[in-house]
Amino acid sequence: MDNTNIINEIRSKVDIVDIISSYLPLTQRGKNYFGVCPFHDDTNPSMSVSREKQIYRCFSCGASGNVFQFIIDYEHVSFREALCILAQKTGIAINGIRLVKKKSKYDKFYEIYELAHKYYQNNMSSSYAKKAKEYLNNRNIDEEMIKKYKIGLSLDKNNHLTQLLISKGYDLNTLNAIGLTNYDKDVYTNRIMFPLYDLNGRVVAFSGRRYDGIKENKYVNTKGTEIFQKGETLYNYHLAREFVRSKNQVIVMEGFMAVIRTKEAGIENVVGLMGTAMTKEQANLIKRLSEHVILCLDGDEPGRKACLDNGNELEKLGCQVSIVELDNGLDPDDYILKYGSESFQNLINNSITLSDYRIKRLKKNINLNSDLEKTEYIHSVLVETSKIEDEIHREFILKKLAKEFEIGYNTLEKRLLSLMKENNQEEKKKVENIPLKPEIPTIKKDKYYLATYALLYYMLVDKKCLNYYEEGKIHFPKEEERFLASEISYYYQKYGMITPADFYTYLNDKEELLKVLDRVLELDFDQEVTEKELLDNIKVLQEYQIQQEIKKQEKKLKEETDIMKQAEIALKIKELNMRLKESL
Ligand code: UTP
Ligand code: MN
Repeated sequence: MDNTNIINEIRSKVDIVDIISSYLPLTQRGKNYFGVCPFHDDTNPSMSVSREKQIYRCFSCGASGNVFQFIIDYEHVSFREALCILAQKTGIAINGIRLVKKKSKYDKFYEIYELAHKYYQNNMSSSYAKKAKEYLNNRNIDEEMIKKYKIGLSLDKNNHLTQLLISKGYDLNTLNAIGLTNYDKDVYTNRIMFPLYDLNGRVVAFSGRRYDGIKENKYVNTKGTEIFQKGETLYNYHLAREFVRSKNQVIVMEGFMAVIRTKEAGIENVVGLMGTAMTKEQANLIKRLSEHVILCLDGDEPGRKACLDNGNELEKLGCQVSIVELDNGLDPDDYILKYGSESFQNLINNSITLSDYRIKRLKKNINLNSDLEKTEYIHSVLVETSKIEDEIHREFILKKLAKEFEIGYNTLEKRLLSLMKENNQEEKKKVENIPLKPEIPTIKKDKYYLATYALLYYMLVDKKCLNYYEEGKIHFPKEEERFLASEISYYYQKYGMITPADFYTYLNDKEELLKVLDRVLELDFDQEVTEKELLDNIKVLQEYQIQQEIKKQEKKLKEETDIMKQAEIALKIKELNMRLKESL
């Protein structure tokens, strides 16, 4: 049986407005719904969702598609997984349906990584693993955890992995390109191998830890490749997703050891940055997981500084950030081993807001004997406080400050109010100065363009229009438009009906045609069309066709030297002009 019917059935049983609004708030304006687009950095509601057409479109970044596309992009899942998610919601069984998986040019890379991953894990159960296991056990990583986290081992043995992979028929160039070999040598020797995953949970890299007690080059990560960029990865992302969603909160840590330990402590909504630095991509991923972020970085100076930097970044993206600060020298792994899971859970429950954390940090650096420094400190705290929205929270801080430094509450409040006023004015200026978006150069939308795209649209929603096309009455100007039209007609003949949203799925990997379809849907035509409107549009295209023909003949005429032939062409042009006049 053709899967298309099941796929379309699932799609038609869900409402795109319901689905998208379960991910982000939408408000209705006219017949469409609007929300902040999750696919680019934005704070304006540029994404519109149409209940009628069952598609979404972002006017700012151009993201668009049907409900499947939304889930694929939002959840970073494959089409198959998106289908499963929706099948669950609709209760339609999809067991036994086989979807043709799109072959990716990276399939081979993933395959090699799977092999390497198995190979490293096998080593871990071999007799070579004695020392490594001792090391892991000393760190409270037992046999069960080794299995659960699929921790492997690379050996100091004549480039064993390289040999193995070559014997399986993979070429060195590929192995080099994906970072497993360096010329004809293994990249990893004598390291404990932690698999790193992409957003979909495929192994795409390793982090190898040395276990000989030497601190230098503690971890070696796979170099950046076509399937792995450290700055675009979060450790445990694919497993944390569902827990983050149900808790509506994500905990962010530095290292994957910290994440592993935290999961062992029974906390699953946690991801790792793999270092203190957070890239813009990672910040966006975190925000997309949840807007409630708890930063729990290492208890050292770099970790504390990163709490401020990363916190600021996330706040700019619209996240509500809070901070867990660990004792000096401890990371979450150390903390849990030292104080236990319950104590750690308490810490998480008692995280402080980013603004409280900023105030706390400010205080660390002042000399309490210097009035000047104290004054500066109080001023900075007030600046920070002026950004806090909650009135009661502000009052708490003022009272504490007044008591601590023996300053009149009113003095502090006066300063605070004037700072808040300044903020307001700046905010206003900012709003006024938002530059108008430069017009993206678009194709000229003249009457021929409009007629073309109206007719393509009506072919999707109106049987009459499709009939006209099949009777040969519609001739589209450009090849790409003709391709789309013939796909529409083909689809209709095959499935007996068509909707724009289903047609999206069908075009799936035909990128050029998707672009044309996008242009069709962008114009937001009404579903209803009269016979006359259809005929008018058809006429416009006929007129266009004649004009093109005239242009062609005129060019020919210019190049023609034979007088007889010139006369012939001139006659043709005259005829064409007559036809043009008639059609107007
Ligand atoms: P940490 O130094 O905090 O490592 O680095 P850790 O998680 O505590 O590891 P152990 O306990 O010493 O084994 C945090 C993260 O920074 C990256 C790794 O991704 C690590 O998880 N890192 C650190 C490197 O990539 N290379 C390094 O040399 C060190
Ligand atoms: Mn550690």
